[in-house]
Amino acid sequence: IVGLGMRGQGAVERLSFIAETKIVALVDVRQANVDSAQKTLERMGRPKADGYIGAESYKEVCERNDIDLIYVCTHWDLHAPIAVYAMEHGKHVATEIPGAISVEEAWQLVNTAERTRRHMMMLENCVYDFFEMATLNMAQKGVFGELVHAEGAYIHDLRWLLFDEKNGYWDMWRLKHNELKNGCLYPMHGLGPVAHALNIHRGDRMEYLVSVSSDQFGLTAYAKEKFGDTSSYATRNYARGDMNTTIIKTENGKTINIQHDVTSPRPYSRIHMLSGTKGFAQKWPKKGIALEPNGHSYLSDAALDSILKVYEHPIVTEIG
Ligand SMILES: NC(=O)c1ccc[n+]([C@@H]2O[C@H](COP(=O)([O-])OP(=O)(O)OC[C@H]3O[C@@H](n4cnc5c(N)ncnc54)[C@H](O)[C@@H]3O)[C@@H](O)[C@H]2O)c1
Repeated sequence: IVGLGMRGQGAVERLSFIAETKIVALVDVRQANVDSAQKTLERMGRPKADGYIGAESYKEVCERNDIDLIYVCTHWDLHAPIAVYAMEHGKHVATEIPGAISVEEAWQLVNTAERTRRHMMMLENCVYDFFEMATLNMAQKGVFGELVHAEGAYIHDLRWLLFDEKNGYWDMWRLKHNELKNGCLYPMHGLGPVAHALNIHRGDRMEYLVSVSSDQFGLTAYAKEKFGDTSSYATRNYARGDMNTTIIKTENGKTINIQHDVTSPRPYSRIHMLSGTKGFAQKWPKKGIALEPNGHSYLSDAALDSILKVYEHPIVTEIG
């Protein structure tokens, strides 16, 4: 496991639940993170792994011949470079989201995976969430008729974490992305589940998109309040507008609306909305399903619980 920050620490615990895995190497630039991951292994009844410290020490791990899979949990900039290096050394790779941060990197992943015949999987976990899986099952069984439109989002107020120099992201990497790039920086959680329901790459494909961002207000307003009007955080330029809305048209004539906002005081939401010729489902702000012939009204709570049980996805039934 490479990168043992907030997500990576949890990954050590999560992987330890899978009996068939052996976690043999832990990699980070900070000794304290490796030590804390070793403690997690101990708590989970697992043997100690080999610890590696250093910005390029992932290479040594990729070069070992007793490892099948490299799991990358670093900041975004290293996902594709480490994945490519790992595949070049015969390893399968799983990366945290996003798999790549440029079109060029995405092609490097595709080309390297095809040439080396190694698997490269981006771990989009929200596609496995319960309501998402049940509504995928319903969509595939035709309960919503023909799906016409879907919406997803990553609306998550991360302002406190973005500016936390001590306990936040390593080297403020996420704030730096906000300084340098505009657009939808993190579409995967909202897009993954609805793309699945819409059969993207299983009969349909995204054809074109229009993406619009608001201007940036949130980071500056927050920084002024927290650090003062003349502070560096309050006076620097942030490229990313607070709310980005991206509308995608698919080859088969469907539309997808994806939003991204991590800098406004809003309750968490990934929306997860599916709208078809026979019905509708939405997860946020409140789970609801409406079906013909009563498309005007949400199902009662009892009817909702019952239909979600009927269409519980087989993977959920088996694994929980
Ligand atoms: N799927 C999800 O639900 C989910 C949730 C949270 C985070 N994430 C993703 O997980 C990734 C990590 O996020 P995080 O919140 O843990 O960030 P973080 O900053 O806490 O962790 C990054 C870690 O990488 C380490 N690191 C930096 N350079 C390194 C190098 N050269 N070699 C090895 N390690 C290095 C840092 O020391 C740090 O421990 C991101 O891609 C994020 O988008 C996904």
